[in-house]
Amino acid sequence: MPDFVHRPVMAAEVLAALKPRPGGRYADGTVGGAGHAASILVASSPSGWLSGCDRDGAAVEAAEKRLAENFAGRFEIRRGNFAEIAGWIPAASCDGVLLDLGVSSPQLDSPERGFSFQQDGPLDMRMDDRQPLTAADLVNGAGADELAKLFWEYGGERESRRFARAIVLDRAQRKFEMTRQLAGLIERISPRAGRKAHPATKIFQALRIAVNDEIGSLKRGLAAAVKILKPGGRLAVITFHSLEDRVVKEFGRERTRDYTFAGDVDVPELRQPRAPELRWVTRKAIAPGEMELQENPRSRSAQLRVLEKLG
Ligand SMILES: C[S@@+](CC[C@H](N)C(=O)[O-])C[C@H]1O[C@@H](n2cnc3c(N)ncnc32)[C@H](O)[C@@H]1O
Repeated sequence: MPDFVHRPVMAAEVLAALKPRPGGRYADGTVGGAGHAASILVASSPSGWLSGCDRDGAAVEAAEKRLAENFAGRFEIRRGNFAEIAGWIPAASCDGVLLDLGVSSPQLDSPERGFSFQQDGPLDMRMDDRQPLTAADLVNGAGADELAKLFWEYGGERESRRFARAIVLDRAQRKFEMTRQLAGLIERISPRAGRKAHPATKIFQALRIAVNDEIGSLKRGLAAAVKILKPGGRLAVITFHSLEDRVVKEFGRERTRDYTFAGDVDVPELRQPRAPELRWVTRKAIAPGEMELQENPRSRSAQLRVLEKLG
């Protein structure tokens, strides 16, 4: 990989899945630091085209600057949610679409963005700072039941009720404004005691998913990605936790079926045959290789799934 391409998660596996070629058209719905975008542009040189987007204004600005140095005239980056990608990229125009979900290292490493419980910062967590809802709004405004549901559904936090009740009690004295204030409360009521993960990990994950409507965006984004793919084009999705992966798996299962059924229950006698829209390129999710796991600990929960649009 050339020096100017920073090594993104599962770079080689993404290229193997999308097979960029000269003249091909690609979309990156999560352009972030433009590592994958640059590697797709290198692999599709000299004439491949990339349309990219990100919700994060700072990421869009940095990505544009980085790509302009080596790929001027071969890309367009817009600020926005990938759920709306079919609103500006023509239907059936792309050979490959990539979604590399979750937060980026620059977002995690900037305390002022409020994603991290390791460093103190405002309880923000918005990927797009034009939206009004912040993590502080949820933590200070949601009822105990709503918070518990959110911690359980988006974080898989077993102590969701206890944490939610403690937050509601604590905020009656003083509103939550800072990340360390929230992490400190969770540490006090659930000491770390030999556990590998910080006790606030799942709470922070849940709040981030809720603030950014990540599951809703993913469901709409997958459907939009299929719309903009050409027949034979491929969709590669990198997920970082089981909730996201389940959404991708269920989406794939539904669109690769050769039948439909009315209602929620699949009764074999009531199936209606139809041509499947997609096929799985690999049956199982692809995991990062040993070397990548050693070099980049953040890749350890990454999983790649690849679907191909049928003609
Ligand atoms: C893991 S990073 C992507 C890194 C990127 N592939 C690279 O090579 O640097 C995820 C990025 O996706 C963005 N993002 C997450 N959900 C999004 C959505 N629904 N629409 C647009 N961007 C999104 C985040 O703001 C973040 O910059």
